[in-house]
Amino acid sequence: VLISLRRIKVNTIDFSRGVPAVKSFPMEKLAEAMQRAFEKHGATMLQYGSAMGFLPLREWIAQWQQCSVEEVLISNGSLQILDFFCEAMLNSGDTVFVESPTYDRTLTILRRRGINIVGIPLQEDGPNIEVLLESLERVHPAFFYIIPYFQNPTGITWSRAKRFQVADLARSHGFTIFEDSPYRFLRYRGMEEEAFSNIAPDRVLRISSFTKLIAAGIRVGFLLADSDIIQKVGKVAGDTYISPCFVSQAMVFEWCQADLLGAQLVHLRQLYSDRLDACLRALDEFLPDCVVARPEGGFFVSLWLPKGVSGESVRSAADSHGVVLTDGRGFFPNPEDGQNFLRLPFCALPPEDIREGVRRLAHIIHDHGV
Ligand SMILES: Cc1ncc(COP(=O)(O)O)c(C=O)c1O
Repeated sequence: VLISLRRIKVNTIDFSRGVPAVKSFPMEKLAEAMQRAFEKHGATMLQYGSAMGFLPLREWIAQWQQCSVEEVLISNGSLQILDFFCEAMLNSGDTVFVESPTYDRTLTILRRRGINIVGIPLQEDGPNIEVLLESLERVHPAFFYIIPYFQNPTGITWSRAKRFQVADLARSHGFTIFEDSPYRFLRYRGMEEEAFSNIAPDRVLRISSFTKLIAAGIRVGFLLADSDIIQKVGKVAGDTYISPCFVSQAMVFEWCQADLLGAQLVHLRQLYSDRLDACLRALDEFLPDCVVARPEGGFFVSLWLPKGVSGESVRSAADSHGVVLTDGRGFFPNPEDGQNFLRLPFCALPPEDIREGVRRLAHIIHDHGV
């Protein structure tokens, strides 16, 4: 027993965290960018500054995303922006629509503000439009929070048809589309879907982040929205922290300015596409009927456990077999809906660990009923 426990201890496979691979961090180039940042922007980046973010990086993002600098706000990660946006725009008791399942931390942010959360079930190509329509007839949402590219937690990307349908509904029912797109640039194959910024520029605002493109610890995320929204969110930001971390933003600016993003994306796509392939191959081999969707990018693949298999017992058995899993219920507005849901983040694990993790998981699932 001792020997097997020891073996398990050194060989734990952690499917619980959607983090980037340490191997992906461009450490040397970031260190050089930081050196340049100190040389060129030392006084500015070490002083308090605008709550909207470090101006040269705002300008760089505006050019990259083809909008005006007044439409860009930068914060310490994109999650913080969601919280500021809710503070600026929502009152307790307001309604927000989300995909079901959705990003668990968004649910936490909405719940702690006393928001009425309505989950719109997610299908392989996007939200269930019938349920969306029924929900719109019952209640008006302040916004519909969506992750239309390589969603966290399912890996699903919305189809073009559903994007147009939801854009039409946003216009006819007068709601805002709040797009959260940290994985959009991490497409490993296939064609990019039409962006909401083209389909419904009058209805959409977007948060995104450098945390999945450069490194999570830099905490640099951004909001693209109308300048009046930027002002309102900026006011909350300023009241909260005076100004965000300019040291990080100046480093990211120097790194972007040196034209390193393109090569980094090529590197990430190579690194992560092998991992995605390893994950899908292992699932085809060991759990062929469980996969929710076959993503072409992003960080996540997800599963529905077969009927009659309890998520809770699989999770606890997985623990003793050296596989760490997240409780699927955390991703659902109605937690019971997620009893049998599993998210598998694959980016931080080497292909051989992914295969071994899926093999162990299949063994446990089959032991628990199938
Ligand atoms: C959908 C989604 N939104 C936001 C975030 C948070 O990003 P950031 O690190 O920019 O705060 C994550 C991180 O995992 C995410 O998956």
